[in-house]
Amino acid sequence: MTSNTYETITHAQNALELHDVTKRFQKKRGEYTYALRGVSLTLKRGEVVGILGPNGSGKSTLVRVVSTLTVPDTGSIRIFDIDAVQQPKIVQRYINRVSVEASFFKKMSSLENLLFGAKLYGITDRESRPRIEEILASIGFDVKRIGEPMEHLSRGTQQKIALARALLTSPMLMLLDEPTTGLDPRSKRDVQELIWKIRAGHDSSILLCTHDMGEAEELCDRIGILVDGQLIALDTPLGLKQRYQQGDELPSLEDVFMLATGQSLEDAISEKDDGGSQTTVAERATELIEV
Ligand SMILES: Nc1ncnc2c1ncn2[C@@H]1O[C@H](COP(=O)(O)OP(=O)(O)OP(=O)(O)O)[C@@H](O)[C@H]1O
Ligand SMILES: [Mg+2]
Repeated sequence: MTSNTYETITHAQNALELHDVTKRFQKKRGEYTYALRGVSLTLKRGEVVGILGPNGSGKSTLVRVVSTLTVPDTGSIRIFDIDAVQQPKIVQRYINRVSVEASFFKKMSSLENLLFGAKLYGITDRESRPRIEEILASIGFDVKRIGEPMEHLSRGTQQKIALARALLTSPMLMLLDEPTTGLDPRSKRDVQELIWKIRAGHDSSILLCTHDMGEAEELCDRIGILVDGQLIALDTPLGLKQRYQQGDELPSLEDVFMLATGQSLEDAISEKDDGGSQTTVAERATELIEV
């Protein structure tokens, strides 16, 4: 890293700045699906911003363009004031993504996966080994299981290890795409507590896509609502409730979601997708490498 880059990052006020970002995918010849339409958003250093939105509203695409897995069609993305589209390799060192389905080498152990994940960020085994045990112990993982293949571990535990892997590289910007979706209540709670600890203890900024209103309200400073690729609101949980208040009482976040999207949460997350959001083989491969 040049001293110039270092200076830029140290002085950056914002962890993330998106300006007018559009991303479209070709459906058929000449026909496009717009996954993001003119999204602008600023995430301050140390801030946790949640994104709520129905299925297919563009949440994962947002996370993917920010993590440099795909490039936007228009607009700009700056991470710690560095242009993420022009300089993806530099910004990749400061970000880490945990998605709904953590990618691991399932036949390998958690230790091997974590060592590998750290190595991709230039951290040697000697440096990462003691930290791995420390991090795993802090998330309540039974260190005796460190040599067991990943596929023997529950999904909740795997998800916690995915967060541990991200933490190992001390990312300054964490991108969490539905980290608790599909987990049983206990594992969900554990993973949320871990995110809470990350929030409290690290100088990390977090972008968190979720379908869980409680999670968003509890963990996020501000919450954005994404509908059909457009960010239609972005405010503190209280600000959002005040904005959508109709009577004397403040609405719940779930009510806000319904008023803003015209859909109940249940409908919004069970609505049939057109299948286009399946991760492509190429992206899967990048995910494995990009950990
Ligand atoms: N690689 C792709 N190829 C084609 N279309 C895609 C691709 N990725 C996303 N899309 C389309 O872009 C839109 C947004 O998808 P995206 O996966 O970002 O939504 P999402 O909010 O993450 O949904 P979910 O809640 O189901 O995870 C959808 O219409 C989807 O079909
Ligand atoms: Mg998604």
